[in-house]
Amino acid sequence: MARIFSGMAPSGFPTLGNYLGATRNWVKLQAQGDCIYCIVDQHAITNFQNPTELREKTRVMAAILLASGIDPEKHILFHQSAVPAHARLAWIFNCVARIGWLNRMTQFKDKAGKDREAVSTGLYVYPNLMAADIHAYHATLVPVGDDQRQHLELANDIAEKFNFDYGVKFFPRIEAMIPAETARIMSLRDGTKKMSKSDPSDQSRINLNDDSDTIALKIRRAKTDPEPLPADPSGLAGRPEATNLVTIYAAMTDQTPAAVLQNLAGAGFGAFKEKLADALIAHIAPIKTETERLLNDPAHIDSILQAGARRAAAIADPIVDEAERIVGFLPRGP
Ligand code: TYM
Repeated sequence: MARIFSGMAPSGFPTLGNYLGATRNWVKLQAQGDCIYCIVDQHAITNFQNPTELREKTRVMAAILLASGIDPEKHILFHQSAVPAHARLAWIFNCVARIGWLNRMTQFKDKAGKDREAVSTGLYVYPNLMAADIHAYHATLVPVGDDQRQHLELANDIAEKFNFDYGVKFFPRIEAMIPAETARIMSLRDGTKKMSKSDPSDQSRINLNDDSDTIALKIRRAKTDPEPLPADPSGLAGRPEATNLVTIYAAMTDQTPAAVLQNLAGAGFGAFKEKLADALIAHIAPIKTETERLLNDPAHIDSILQAGARRAAAIADPIVDEAERIVGFLPRGP
């Protein structure tokens, strides 16, 4: 059976983009393999996080993942900082990856912007930690949205160089699993920008813990254009906001965008947005209710994550021990 790994950073609350790009596949894959899902708090602090808020966001993320259908008994859900194997392997990978490789990471360029000299060194080497997250488990399948594609290519380059440098076949190749239609859900305010949990504008995204009124309002205010819905997807060319809303509606109602347009051709955005808000609320309201129920008992959430971390460590520790032996470190001892 394939071992599946993926992660999500608690740098905000999970969004509809996270859900449609990643979590939906995380849930589905539970029927196909052993899944290890990680809330990557160490990645989150590459940008400063208020410590109290980070704890809250980590618990809320855990609750939302559980409410979305992650099964922590059959599979593993945990927080990254609780398994030191990630940081141990990341250090080795810092010494394998080349600066030139990291300089090509488009997400670093986007996140650092003009402030390149002032961002943390953690943000720069972040993709090495991400490679370590996956390779510490010898995972081979990684369900993510499109924005992580380049990081996964880097994770393969790092594994290949490690294997070559040390003359071993230790780390396997990994394969990205990226959804066809919903790999890139865009901001509600700007259809050319990714929907992101760290966007300063809360109006740019739907959070999975938004209440129904907030969802309806955000959709009503979402940017659109004056044209009605076209009869087929070719009529969406050059209309990024319209494309995004049709993509979201199609995903929420389990249809292709072409089928949506066949049914709704000629509709104006006023009417379409109402349908879209209803579909989103029908999907998200039960997740929010279950999230709130879980958050009434934070100690229970912590105990789920801690139990997950113990099981994760039992898999990762021997793999990282062996990686350290391969590079020439003396045994850690009992
Ligand atoms: P993060 O926390 O930014 O996002 C979590 C997952 O959600 C996907 N995603 C999206 N998909 C479609 N449309 C969007 N607008 C959108 N926004 C986010 C992301 O592609 C991702 O799959 N570096 C990772 C976390 C990570 C990881 C890992 C992932 C750390 N270690 C190991 C896989 C394997 C990140 O910051 O994702």
